[in-house]
Order: sequence, then structure tokens, then C-alpha cells
Amino acid sequence: MKLALDEYLLEVLIPAEGLQARIAELGREISADYVGKNPLLICILRGGVMFLTDLMRQLAVPHTLDFMAVSSYGAGARESTGSVRILMDLATDIEHRHVLIVEDIIDTGHTMHYIVQVLQARGPASVRICTLLNKAERREVDVPIDYVGFDIPNKFVFGYGLDLDEYFRNLPFVGVVKPGVFLPSQRV
Ligand code: PRP
Repeated sequence: MKLALDEYLLEVLIPAEGLQARIAELGREISADYVGKNPLLICILRGGVMFLTDLMRQLAVPHTLDFMAVSSYGAGARESTGSVRILMDLATDIEHRHVLIVEDIIDTGHTMHYIVQVLQARGPASVRICTLLNKAERREVDVPIDYVGFDIPNKFVFGYGLDLDEYFRNLPFVGVVKPGVFLPSQRV
């Protein structure tokens, strides 16, 4: 299967160097806030993976990891349905733990609102949210974000963990999708 990036990429929104510089700043900020707290980082699959692996390399405090997968979008859909469900739950007991949720993007806020409710019910010491991208213009549910990498405009973005029809998550930058393109799964 051939997928040519230039068929899909309108422009680079955040270059790789910009991402890495901001993630280093976030790492310093989070490290200072979590001294002595042994935080549990919870990465929301799948989009949060690239951000998590770069962010954790910038942390100067001991921490552990777990993963959670939730679904709010149909395959290939660009809009949130507003209904969220757990596809894969944590392996860790989070009672009395300081939890930091690591997410790639907060859009309508439905996904994060649901995750926070689920985690709060399990008796953690604290729950904070760290998102690489924040598309505030699209918010439907208010979520208190503690750490934001970049506030971005209401554009369809992909790369650096974010998919375009499940592809291109490996791009080292965040790009904007060309309007009107056929998604990879729509190609014949
Ligand atoms: C994306 C993103 C968030 C969610 C944000 O996940 O990773 O989890 O959408 O949208 P919301 O604020 O409107 O709820 P997606 O469902 O695309 O799954 P993925 O991370 O596996 O790509």
C-alpha cells in the first residue's frame, strides 16, 4: 500500500523541533510539581503514545506508567459522537496515587470528562490532565486542563500520534489535513 504524505498534508502546524522544545518545558514543570509524589502517568491510547514517550524522557521524578483505551469516534469519522466507552482498562490500582493523564488532544472534551469521572471514582490522591494539543474552540464539556502543550485552531490535524484514518501517527510533526482528500481507507 502506498500513502504519499503530500497528498494529505496541507501544511505543518507544529514542527518537530517546536514539539520537542515545548515537551521539555512541560517536563520541567511537571517534574517540579510532582517532587516526592511518585505519579502514575496514564497514557490514553492510541494517540497519546508519541507524546507520552517523549514526555517521560523529560521527567526528573520517579514515576510509573499505565495505559487506557477509550473510544468516542467511529472508524474514519471526524466528529465526536459524545458517547465514550472503555476499550481497555488500567492494570494499576490507582487508589491513593497521584494520577497524571497524558493525552494527545482535547477537542469537544467528552473523552476527557468521562475519563476523569471514571478515575475519580477509584479514590486517587489527585488527578491532573496533561494534553499536548488543546482545541478550545470545539469544547462542549468543560474540563480543567493542568498542562497544555499548544492551543491550536479548529483544523483537522494529524501526525505525532494523531491519526489520519489510523495512518501517519509516526510523523514527527503535527500537520493540517488538506480539505476534501479521500482518506486512506476510501482509496481503491
Ligand atoms: C482522540 C483523542 C482524544 C479524543 C478527543 O481520540 O486522542 O482521546 O479524540 O476528542 P474529544 O475531546 O472530542 O472527546 P480518538 O478517539 O481519535 O482515538 P485515538 O487516540 O486512538 O486516535
